[in-house]
Amino acid sequence: MNTKPSIYVTQPDLPPLDEFIPYLRQIWDSKVLTNSGPFHKQFETELAEYLGVKHISLFTNATIALVTALQSLRIGGEVITTPYSFVATAHSLLWNGIKPVFVDIEPDTFNIDPAKIEAAITPQTTAIMPLHCYGRPCDVETIRSIADNYNLKVIYDAAHAFGVRRQGESILTHGDLSVLSFHATKVFTTFEGGAIISPDVRTKQHIDHLKNFGFVNEETVVATGINGKMSEFNAALGLLQLQHVDRAIARRRDIDALYRAQLANIPGISVPSPAQDLAANQSYFPILVEPDYPVSRDALYKQMKDVGIHGRRYFYPLISDFPMYRGLPSANADQLPVARAVASKVICLPIYPALSDDDVCRVAAMIRSLS
Ligand SMILES: Cc1ncc(COP(=O)(O)O)c(C=O)c1O
Repeated sequence: MNTKPSIYVTQPDLPPLDEFIPYLRQIWDSKVLTNSGPFHKQFETELAEYLGVKHISLFTNATIALVTALQSLRIGGEVITTPYSFVATAHSLLWNGIKPVFVDIEPDTFNIDPAKIEAAITPQTTAIMPLHCYGRPCDVETIRSIADNYNLKVIYDAAHAFGVRRQGESILTHGDLSVLSFHATKVFTTFEGGAIISPDVRTKQHIDHLKNFGFVNEETVVATGINGKMSEFNAALGLLQLQHVDRAIARRRDIDALYRAQLANIPGISVPSPAQDLAANQSYFPILVEPDYPVSRDALYKQMKDVGIHGRRYFYPLISDFPMYRGLPSANADQLPVARAVASKVICLPIYPALSDDDVCRVAAMIRSLS
């Protein structure tokens, strides 16, 4: 019988409550709860500065932000995307009446394979929606040049890519738009929340109208907008979180390094190698359970659970296997061999700033004990 406390795949990194109370008091005093209030404005400015981007629109969550991003660029027809993502990526397409076209992923990065994109382009294709999977950047240059050749837009699902920089530059400046998530499970959380990064002020303004029902002023509605506004509570937490996020990511880096040391040379367990020249955010710690590991991925996942270690098969099943997608020609399993293989082998191990070194060693020891 396991008597040790459970370890979950993630845990939000919250600031001390005492630090949040003054923000709440300010909201209570001002009675401004939402609609681009003072915390919203300040958070937008400070977040853009922190991330090294120019124009940000804050949202209630990333799913509504993805839906709005597609609306803002008037994307229709078919959009090329990855089956190896959280279901919201493809759902945002269906919410816009767009047909997703799934393209396989690369075996080493788990990102959409640029070499397979061109074959999926048809006269109906209007955009590419890749994911920076686990915060690892896509091959943004190749994707850009394919998009330019075919006059396509690129919208990155950057839900995992908070703060990721390559050669000192934010990865969020690539593509026509990038979408972040601040969900409770993410590296940086505002309870719920999200954002769109725009390349210029006009695009940002248009997106700001769309997230506010399409209102430009009291009397003018210019588009079929939605209510995607971030509240003052979420923005206040975001402001405070900015003071803590460097520490949180630094701790994630230490955990990542400790896992790599502890999991080295376990037959049948492979740990994807880190990207070069990257300030990563260590948002996830995926391992692949290969056929030469003594038990199957699902058996390991279950046995971990039995001793209170809750990994996550992320991403499994593939999006293309869900009922609303599996009838699409591009969802055919034969065309997605890499994604299928990775989804059948992956377990994301627990990683969050409060995870102790002892717990990291406990997780690794459990995995080693079966080998
Ligand atoms: C890849 C990806 N896309 C989109 C989302 C949706 O984000 P949100 O929960 O903020 O709507 C998530 C996570 O929740 C995600 O992991």
